[in-house]
Amino acid sequence: MNETLQVIASRRSIRKYKPEQIVGEEMQRIMDAAIFAPSARNQQKWHFTVVQNKEIIDKMARIIQSNALNSGEGHAARFMSTPGFHVFFHAPTVVLISHITGGHFIEVDCGMAAQNILLAAEALGIGSCVIGFSRFLLISQEGIDLLRELGMPEGYSHLCAIALGYPDGTHPSMPPRNRDVINYIK
Ligand SMILES: Cc1cc2nc3c(=O)[nH]c(=O)nc-3n(C[C@H](O)[C@H](O)[C@H](O)COP(=O)(O)O)c2cc1C
Repeated sequence: MNETLQVIASRRSIRKYKPEQIVGEEMQRIMDAAIFAPSARNQQKWHFTVVQNKEIIDKMARIIQSNALNSGEGHAARFMSTPGFHVFFHAPTVVLISHITGGHFIEVDCGMAAQNILLAAEALGIGSCVIGFSRFLLISQEGIDLLRELGMPEGYSHLCAIALGYPDGTHPSMPPRNRDVINYIK
């Protein structure tokens, strides 16, 4: 199979990581891929914080867990109350994705950048998982303050995070895909 298509097909959400940090040059290539993504009118009103500090990652995980448990959202609370649950699965790197508040198509732009991160990581043998639960950082002042401290610019909102690291364990198989969502009109 074509190499690019192979990378797309083999990428899976990884939820177990080795503690070793991602090599600096590989991390740079992954973040280059992020900013090579297309964006509406090439505005690039996104922002990325690459967190590679275990204490800060654990602090974010604690805030997310506590906010989610207090949110009354049953689905999130069920995950968070699993014994030993860590929202970033102890990944050594977490990329926080933020964007200018209220831009047209800006979440699409960030999604494009996020997918480039996942595919570049996969191409380098690095595992990844999008973490939408990071949105719980936004529902407490402590979480917002932390995002600002970590460099999220004024006037920007946090969208999601990506956990990254070398995978530990066997490669997961692909969760079922619904193929009945495509219409071909010829
Ligand atoms: C926007 C978005 C948010 C997600 N949030 C989470 C999350 O918070 N925690 C998690 O374990 N997986 C999360 N995922 C991963 C999905 O569960 C996963 O992509 C899906 O089950 C398909 O599996 P695959 O990525 O291995 O193909 C998220 C994926 C997306 C696109």
